[in-house]
Amino acid sequence: MKLSEIHYSNKFDDLDSQLKNFINQEKHVIFIDSKLSSIINLDPKFKIFEIEINESTKDLNTIQKIWKIMFSESLDRSSKIIGIGGGVLSDLVGFATSTFKRGANLSLVPSTFLGMVDAAHGGKTGFNNEFGKNQIGTFFIPEKIFICTEFLDSISEIEMNNGIIESLKAGFLGDKEIIEMIYQDKLNNLEEIIKKSIQVKYNILKNDLRESNERMFLNLGHTIGHLIEKDSNYSISHGQAVAIGMLKGFEISESKFNLNSSIRDEFKSFLNKQSMKTEYSFNSNQSELKEIISNDKKVTSDVVKFVLIKNIQEPVLIDFSINDLLEVLTNA
Ligand SMILES: NC(=O)c1ccc[n+]([C@@H]2O[C@H](COP(=O)([O-])OP(=O)(O)OC[C@H]3O[C@@H](n4cnc5c(N)ncnc54)[C@H](O)[C@@H]3O)[C@@H](O)[C@H]2O)c1
Repeated sequence: MKLSEIHYSNKFDDLDSQLKNFINQEKHVIFIDSKLSSIINLDPKFKIFEIEINESTKDLNTIQKIWKIMFSESLDRSSKIIGIGGGVLSDLVGFATSTFKRGANLSLVPSTFLGMVDAAHGGKTGFNNEFGKNQIGTFFIPEKIFICTEFLDSISEIEMNNGIIESLKAGFLGDKEIIEMIYQDKLNNLEEIIKKSIQVKYNILKNDLRESNERMFLNLGHTIGHLIEKDSNYSISHGQAVAIGMLKGFEISESKFNLNSSIRDEFKSFLNKQSMKTEYSFNSNQSELKEIISNDKKVTSDVVKFVLIKNIQEPVLIDFSINDLLEVLTNA
């Protein structure tokens, strides 16, 4: 399976030149998160369309708008379709491109840390509907991904933490140097952290793109994280929720696999240093939580595929009955 080709830069001028070389006067459109147009100035010759995005417009309506632009610009399957933005924009443009004429040529320019280390990679696309987040989607690998770290100069602390937690997750799954770099505050070397985080994801994806087995490792912290996000009505950020999910997972790993408790202690100290929460109490009752968790895409017949670690770089999938999981969560 062919994964995306990645190009790096740390200045918008270099990104602009990379895009010029790539587009090379061919038929193209660039969809950009409208909040970015005041941040980056791209070559005025590019065909650029601003899309107003947020989690509540990550829906079919916005997909229709994107398709409409593709048709009115007379794009065909070989046209170059480029999405510049965070995970919301890349999921939307990815889905619209994957279904336009049964699949056109997609490239992504992630503008958030989470996008750079996670959302742009691996081909998951999708949008939300009344049944939940990302319930409709496709697997569709972008041809190219352009990572420009100048985007990170303008993102908020919460968005930065969302990405740092995903990078740490990659570290726990497959590269302990990422953890060391982040704990030692080597954020001046972001490009290295990004490259290493992507490598962990690609090592997993090359064996299991469609999430039948190993790709589920990437859900470390996410089963509980999603539950917290939903229970808090999304007032808790994704990174914060996943961080608490990972802490809880490490605690479970300690009892099931004798995971050294120093891993949880160090992670907890890091979260404290970042002024992030380390605990959460659920508002919903057991049966409401059961209903939320049953909608998780990783659940079949009341059993959730749950990711733990036996050690750093040794992830493991276990079958956890929903009732047992809820008992661990609500009897803490
Ligand atoms: N496809 C995947 O594999 C995958 C993986 C993880 C997450 N996701 C999806 O990604 C989404 C979250 O992505 P996200 O965290 O990047 O959020 P996002 O795309 O909503 O961006 C977060 C906010 O930052 C703004 N923003 C983006 N870039 C900016 C910049 N450079 N400077 C200033 N502001 C900027 C956006 O306008 C938005 O307000 C969720 O919808 C999630 O489902 C997908």
